[in-house]
Amino acid sequence: MCIWGARRSATSGSAAADGRDRGDAPSSAHFRNAEHRELFLSGLRLAAREVIWAAVQAPTPPVSGETPWAFCVIEGVGRLAAYGARAKQYARDHQPRDRPWTWPDRPDFKVFWDAPVLVLICGRSGNTEASFDCCRAGQNLMLAAHAKGLGSCWLGAPLPWLNSRGVAGELGVRTGFDPIVAIILGYSAETPAGVPRPRPVVRWCNSSADS
Ligand SMILES: Cc1cc2nc3c(=O)[nH]c(=O)nc-3n(C[C@H](O)[C@H](O)[C@H](O)COP(=O)(O)O)c2cc1C
Repeated sequence: MCIWGARRSATSGSAAADGRDRGDAPSSAHFRNAEHRELFLSGLRLAAREVIWAAVQAPTPPVSGETPWAFCVIEGVGRLAAYGARAKQYARDHQPRDRPWTWPDRPDFKVFWDAPVLVLICGRSGNTEASFDCCRAGQNLMLAAHAKGLGSCWLGAPLPWLNSRGVAGELGVRTGFDPIVAIILGYSAETPAGVPRPRPVVRWCNSSADS
């Protein structure tokens, strides 16, 4: 789970109490003034530009062409929360028959986690390599975000809504591209301990096995 907040400062002892570290950070109430808010957003915008640059260094095959991706960045906690509510409603109304989702019915579940920035990595419609291309770019983006001290979270929940009729266009996705990867960015308010995975089963085929 990701929780989003304004960047902690050394002097933010009361931050948890007033909400700044809980994830509802960049609402206007948490900034000293409009200038402070704009500074926060422009820092984040700059960081988002740089992680997108890292994303597009991902390798793609020739069939994907010169421009395999179109990126769409959506800013604003309030705007994303409103989109999240629509994505949740869409999921409730379009439950898959074989694998019903439980998250749309959880009142506390926030699709975009109060993050201030959403990056959509969109692949060219009809390109069978598009989902691979976008996933490689997404992984680069998350690694670059981590290196910059940003928190990120890969989101599958909003994809059915994002790919429903008219939504990508409404959000500004370029015509001819479909949203494939959705990743939120922000300054993380906490660093959850990871759960180590079991070692994978690997079958080594080598020359000693041949003899
Ligand atoms: C393909 C994919 C889709 C995910 N979708 C969501 C999502 O919609 N909402 C969410 O809160 N987390 C989502 N996650 C994040 C996971 O829930 C989890 O927090 C993350 O993969 C970290 O895993 P870990 O807890 O094993 O380290 C997604 C992760 C992946 C890889």
